[in-house]
Amino acid sequence: MEKTFSLSRRDDGIALLTMDVPGETMNTLKAQFAPEITAILQEIKADSSIKGLVLISGKADSFVAGADISMLDACETAEDARLLSRQGHHVFAELEGLNIPVVAAIHGACLGGGLELALACHQRVCSDSSKTMLGVPEVQLGLLPGGGGTQRLPRLIGIAKALDLMLTGKQVRPKQAVKMGLVDDVVPESILLDTAIEMALAGKKTRKPLKQPLVTKLLEGTPVGRNIMFDQATKQVLKKTQGNYPSPLKIIDCVREGMAKGMEKGLEVEAAHFGALVATPESAALRSIFFATTEMKKETGAGDAKPRKVAKAVVLGGGLMGGGIASVTTTKAKVPVRVKDISDKGLSNALGYAYKLLDKGVKRRHMTSAERDKLMALMTTTTEYRGVKDADIVVEAVFEDLNLKHQMVRDIERECGEHTIFASNTSSLPITQIAAAASRPENVIGLHYFSPVEKMPLVEVIAHEKTSPETIATTVAFARKQGKTPIVVKDCAGFYVNRILALYMNEAAQLLLEGQAVDHLDKALVKFGFPVGPMTLLDEVGIDVGAKISPILEKELGERFKAPAAFDKLMADDRKGRKNGKGFYLYGKAAKKGKKVDESVYSLLGLTPATGKEAGEIAERCVVQMLNEAVRCLEEGIIASPRDGDIGAIFGIGFPPFLGGPFRYMDTLGAAKMVRLLEGYQSKYGDRFAPAALLKAMAAEGKTFY
Ligand SMILES: NC(=O)c1ccc[n+]([C@@H]2O[C@H](COP(=O)([O-])OP(=O)(O)OC[C@H]3O[C@@H](n4cnc5c(N)ncnc54)[C@H](O)[C@@H]3O)[C@@H](O)[C@H]2O)c1
Repeated sequence: MEKTFSLSRRDDGIALLTMDVPGETMNTLKAQFAPEITAILQEIKADSSIKGLVLISGKADSFVAGADISMLDACETAEDARLLSRQGHHVFAELEGLNIPVVAAIHGACLGGGLELALACHQRVCSDSSKTMLGVPEVQLGLLPGGGGTQRLPRLIGIAKALDLMLTGKQVRPKQAVKMGLVDDVVPESILLDTAIEMALAGKKTRKPLKQPLVTKLLEGTPVGRNIMFDQATKQVLKKTQGNYPSPLKIIDCVREGMAKGMEKGLEVEAAHFGALVATPESAALRSIFFATTEMKKETGAGDAKPRKVAKAVVLGGGLMGGGIASVTTTKAKVPVRVKDISDKGLSNALGYAYKLLDKGVKRRHMTSAERDKLMALMTTTTEYRGVKDADIVVEAVFEDLNLKHQMVRDIERECGEHTIFASNTSSLPITQIAAAASRPENVIGLHYFSPVEKMPLVEVIAHEKTSPETIATTVAFARKQGKTPIVVKDCAGFYVNRILALYMNEAAQLLLEGQAVDHLDKALVKFGFPVGPMTLLDEVGIDVGAKISPILEKELGERFKAPAAFDKLMADDRKGRKNGKGFYLYGKAAKKGKKVDESVYSLLGLTPATGKEAGEIAERCVVQMLNEAVRCLEEGIIASPRDGDIGAIFGIGFPPFLGGPFRYMDTLGAAKMVRLLEGYQSKYGDRFAPAALLKAMAAEGKTFY
């Protein structure tokens, strides 16, 4: 078997231990490496000519990106996973216990188990490259740093900072890392190895006491102070997670135990909690999302079709969406973009949109002003169709009007090349209808972004019947370059995401009309695990937008999409939501002291608000509507697989990730239970709850989606 670790001795007495997992582009830690590394450590111990050790990666762009997560799925019990953690502890303790200085030389991703490996070294130096990122993202997979991270990190950088890193999973850049004491030095990549060798030659350093502000010192330095910190952290976690995610509380417990009872006890607790977390359904769901997105990155979206290179893009319309799309095209995809609008306002909006985001990066010192200006230079504007001829793709984000979209198709066919793709960002018009105006319909496709474009990770790529596989593959690859996760869906009103969202929102509106209070509804769905409740979401998206889409969906998809009558009254009162400061909640000055419901909405709708219904029942009624419609989308082939449906709902709507998406969640509930729930609601509230045929068939056969 090819080796992962190699040891080389230098004349000055420093040995280099290089990690390079054969056949892989990135280093990840695997359980099977333990015997190899243990043998090398024995060899080092036995060789008195070695005066110091430098640990470095043989990969060009990564130190160690983490532990190999697939090995967790091979664990059958919590005990298996606990033992994995214990094995890691043992190896890292051996490394830390060497009596020669051990220095980690870090360039590229140093995450999870990779950072824990570096923490077991006596000193760390990292490159100043933008590729170098350090962090412990395990919490995002419903886990905790199980390689000693919960113990070594707080001892190195202090409890408060360690908790912050572990509870958020955020990654820090080199400068932040040195500032917080996570690494001892930051140097250019060209002298990384030399610096590490010098550090090893200089010998083991006794660690300087942590530099901390007085308050932090007082809090962290005494058992009483620490307990205050842990209690505060627990409260914040529960507020943020609504108790839906078990791992943050376990992280706090590991630190609490380790600080009170010492490192050895802390490591025992860490391994026990790690094992238990691996076996939770929450972690299994979060890991499934990770695997799904990794798998999707390899897909073209159209079988064997090869994507064409996109060297230049055009965005039509520089408004809210067009500005965002142009911005991710230059800053993420690094593709030159020409924005075309009929008004200068649209053009300056697009330029301003990108500048504001980039300038934030400059202010936070993530980039220099020269780098910002270089990216800004990739965006040019026009009110005529000048300089668009050589565009490989045109993304259209003009007003939502079919005639206007037809005009755009004709303009682009006239002004651009034969190969130019026409991608529409329409939210509700079927792509087939837009393509009807095209003489080259094979180049027409839907590319549906979500607002705000730079933040929302999903895009729906919508192929109509005549879209060519090459157009699909090129559009998918383009979206991915923009940093998006694309799912390819079939053409229909609302596509996938807005279609399942619409029924969920309608049900929330029904509950409102039955007298449930606005904030009570929102709280119920936030408790269920959504990032915001449906009333807040409607205010954010625009009540007018919802009112416009609803009739289209009803016409194309049927009665169950009929919006509750409330919309008319809200529109007549000019209530559009946040954008005009008038919605379900108060905005502007009235909202200064925190978020408050605009009570006048109740009298407008002739309601007396109550909080009578249990949060669980409210959430269930809204969520089963979304789930049932997701099944219909699968049945009709709108989405290609339950996996795409899960990723679409999580990344497009914020469906609770710990449930793994609508389909994985339905598998947990069981199809039979889903049918029972829906039929129960159907007998009470009508046929909008009629279970999808596929669901009934699955219930009868005891089948699952995965
Ligand atoms: N707002 C959202 O949340 C959202 C989400 C997904 C998709 N969409 C869709 O994106 C599209 C744009 O929406 P928006 O919210 O950005 O609208 P917007 O009103 O903010 O921007 C539209 C822009 O198009 C420009 N425009 C109009 N006619 C034009 C023409 N002939 N040539 C070039 N530019 C022209 C306008 O001047 C304006 O700047 C719509 O189809 C909408 O349905 C919107």
